Amino acid sequence: MPVVDITSAARNFDADPYSYYAALRAAGPVHRVGGGSPDEAPCWLVVGYEEARQALGHPALRKDWRSAGLFPEIEATAANSNMLEADPPQHTRLRRLVAREFTARRVEGLRPRVEGITGELLDAMAARPERSADLIEELAFPLPMTVICELLGVPDLDRDRFRVWSNAVVAPVPGVVGNEAHQQLSGYLAELIALKAGAPGEDLLSALIRTRDEDGDSLSPDELIGMAFLLLVAGHETTVNLISNGVRALLAHPDQLAALRADPDGLFDGAVEEMLRYDGPVQNSTYRHAATDVEIGGTLIPAGAVVLVSLAGADRDPGRFADPDVFDIRRAPQGHLAFGHGLHFCIGAPLARMEGRIALRRLLERFPGLETDPAAGPPQWLAGSLMRGVSRLPVRW
Ligand code: HEM
Repeated sequence: MPVVDITSAARNFDADPYSYYAALRAAGPVHRVGGGSPDEAPCWLVVGYEEARQALGHPALRKDWRSAGLFPEIEATAANSNMLEADPPQHTRLRRLVAREFTARRVEGLRPRVEGITGELLDAMAARPERSADLIEELAFPLPMTVICELLGVPDLDRDRFRVWSNAVVAPVPGVVGNEAHQQLSGYLAELIALKAGAPGEDLLSALIRTRDEDGDSLSPDELIGMAFLLLVAGHETTVNLISNGVRALLAHPDQLAALRADPDGLFDGAVEEMLRYDGPVQNSTYRHAATDVEIGGTLIPAGAVVLVSLAGADRDPGRFADPDVFDIRRAPQGHLAFGHGLHFCIGAPLARMEGRIALRRLLERFPGLETDPAAGPPQWLAGSLMRGVSRLPVRW
């Protein structure tokens, strides 16, 4: 999936994209920005809250770039055969094949395992004699990665190799449109699926391999790769940032952290929603393209244009959230767009919420003196404008 990048649009973008979105929003909800689309052509950026919802729900803003003949310089791979790069009816059928696995009820069944994995990771962290660690290595990465690997039934996934490819897919170096990581991921997942087909189990990937829905529908070999690709990448890249951005927000706001520690039962769920709104894991949607001329917020977006919806911009819109730059765990920010909106609303939201709540709550319980490691140096921001987060989070206790 080519990723739209707008980081060259503003100075200091990685450290503070919010000022850039705020300045744009003050001038209007929809803008044409330079160098945004995968082929470096300008794209349209939606930064107002209402307009973002409208764009995410607009039937003429489409996802299937291959059928539309966009980005001819990018070679599609099997990994691109996934629901986030498809439109109805294709999207509907791909999503239906896995939707039942991710319902709130189904996800509830994973709770003991998520608690168990979190407990093991925190035990290992607490055993470190130096009383300091990179929270991403110790908790934020391995928790969601282990959960999604177990769910899919690929516990032996080569995580080191997978992580390098996956990071390259979601946080590409600006200006580079190469899709080597996609090709390598597709090849690796094809091998993994072949192994699984020979020794099926009680897991999601085995179920997908033998899937036949009520209408006798099944996944093609490329669609299987695309599904595994999307679930594995989306299932961990994002939740890593929920945990790490959440910890960063709490450590930067000691009054909020103290309030949360004092009343976790009353405040925890709402605090995680505020973390999602205030500094969410996904900064901008994946891009869409206009199938016809489309009007959003009084601006005409011409047919064929590439459109990017700024979730970070929308969730800091003062027209929707009062004092949007204030981190307030009692805010109850219903309607935030951290999980998107419309047809492509995040299928993993119940799982992500559960993982985030458990990880952060147990972390605070276990480490009452948790603080940023003063030896950490400046934050290392993730590259690109799709994700929002850091690659290391040194803490001590
Ligand atoms: C805090 C964690 C997460 C956040 C913030 C997040 C955010 C998002 C967003 C914003 C979208 C829509 C993108 C767009 O419309 O351009 C999305 C879609 C998606 N997410 Fe998540 N996600 C998270 C966790 C997960 C997890 C744990 C899984 C899988 C188990 C997952 C699987 C998916 C899938 C499959 C889609 C595509 C849905 C579709 O096209 O219909 N996500 N996510």
